[in-house]
Amino acid sequence: MDRYKLIFDTDPGIDDAVALLLLHAMPSVDLQGITTVFGNASIEDCTRNALYICERFGLPYGVFQGAGVSFLGAEEEDYPDFVHGRDGLGDVGFSPPSRLPAKISAADFIVQAARMSSDPIEILAVGRMTNIARAFEIAPDIKSKIRRVVMMGGAVGVAGNVTEWAEANIYGDPEAADHIFMSDVPVLMVGLDATLMHQISRTQLATLTDDLGDAGEFIWQIKQHYLNFYASKGVFDGFPIHDATAALAMIFPDDFEIAEGDLRCVTAGDQRGRTIFSERHGGHHQVALSAQGTTLWRRFNALMHAQFGVDSSKTV
Ligand code: BDR
Ligand code: CA
Repeated sequence: MDRYKLIFDTDPGIDDAVALLLLHAMPSVDLQGITTVFGNASIEDCTRNALYICERFGLPYGVFQGAGVSFLGAEEEDYPDFVHGRDGLGDVGFSPPSRLPAKISAADFIVQAARMSSDPIEILAVGRMTNIARAFEIAPDIKSKIRRVVMMGGAVGVAGNVTEWAEANIYGDPEAADHIFMSDVPVLMVGLDATLMHQISRTQLATLTDDLGDAGEFIWQIKQHYLNFYASKGVFDGFPIHDATAALAMIFPDDFEIAEGDLRCVTAGDQRGRTIFSERHGGHHQVALSAQGTTLWRRFNALMHAQFGVDSSKTV
């Protein structure tokens, strides 16, 4: 099987945590490193969470701490603790990990990994795209080594989740997103149009909890906060796992309706953070416009059982 090199750029974050476990379970992914960015919590909390997950599950990946402010240097005033908890992982009270982040920054790692690799590298970005924009700015030569940026973010035909127009990852750093869109690097955008179509029900969550041993226990622990948030919005059964759905889109594009065209991001005015997509055959951006939720749940479940399942006789 062909394995391809991937950098995971993330702001863990509850759905980020699930995506990291899923990536570890994907045999075709050769994960080069985890780069962290501020977003769901402060950069220190997001980095600590990535290290915690790696330590708890024995994941052998380096963690590179990245941006704590936006591409233009703006600080965050309000982290979304009502979604992800004050610590970013649902305020379960996990003990601090003993592992430390690597000595170089996320942007420097992206530059170094791209330059040193003989094959093109893919980046899965499931937070603000600040680190990638910085890497492209300090080393424009690496753009030719990036096969594609797959990103969770944006909304095209549905409303945003921060404003009517803007989704959280894009709203948090629109200039970084537009910097990526303006580069020649191919992008696959997996935004709310697709991720809201793949939701996990409470019954499905219970199956994971029963079958996946410590990984199941961990997902159950962190999801309690998330479930409460969705219940407060009137959604009592089912929650999206945005970042894990974007990871699935890399490997199973046929389970999505994907259109080609050109992406830009609005950086000023009421629509700041809005992703604008102009469909055009042959455009070097792709957008997932919908997703087959039932099939994706089957894929997710099968991969997670194969990696973390406690009963090997049980197939899904
Ligand atoms: C995105 O924002 C973050 O809260 C999630 O981790 C996800 O990446 C969804 O809008
Ligand atoms: Ca995220």
